[in-house]
Amino acid sequence: MENYPVPAASTKDIYTYYAGWITWLFFPSLATVVNLISVVFHRLLRHPEIMKEIINEQNQVFGNHYSDDNSKDCFTIVSVRKLVKLDSVCRESFRTNKEFNVSERANVGRESVILSNGVVIPPGEFYVLFNLWINHQDSILQKDTIGSYEKFEPFRHLETSQSVTKTGDDFLLFGLGKHVCP
Ligand code: HEM
Repeated sequence: MENYPVPAASTKDIYTYYAGWITWLFFPSLATVVNLISVVFHRLLRHPEIMKEIINEQNQVFGNHYSDDNSKDCFTIVSVRKLVKLDSVCRESFRTNKEFNVSERANVGRESVILSNGVVIPPGEFYVLFNLWINHQDSILQKDTIGSYEKFEPFRHLETSQSVTKTGDDFLLFGLGKHVCP
């Protein structure tokens, strides 16, 4: 907040200004999260055999802590990171999800950008659409050895230990680069 003061031209006081930003953030972030949770549930319902495995994993990680007085300490960053099977199921559900298959980019520089395939992207409000689906299925970009990238393989990502929040050319759900989803 120190680095982003209320602009001089704004008529709002500091509380109203930041409350506005937080409200603005709240709605789109809620919509994306709820939508993606439904994608994972959909996969679990289609592959009920996975549920047993991830429930076992949760039992191992959390044990009987749910009913302890210490239950508030149960969901820590350290314990949640141990849910590697659940993490892999989530990443794989999103990798194989066809709904978010296009993302857009603009060249905000002053010079044209020439891609390796010769495509020229002029500067300005010229939006480039790229297809996440292609990257998510690409056998060169994908890093595991299981292959068959058109298939949903729930525990594919255990091999490479790539968590669901790890973005890269092989996983673009949260974007990439300077404006990647924080
Ligand atoms: C799990 C669901 C979510 C998905 C799939 C998602 C996806 C994305 C994508 C694709 C971008 C654009 C990245 C780019 O242009 O390279 C983005 C940006 C952003 N996301 Fe998310 N997001 C999610 C949840 C959230 C949540 C929960 C918050 C905040 C609480 C959030 C805050 C933001 C912000 C602030 C940006 C802009 C970053 C910037 O411009 O520097 N997102 N998100």
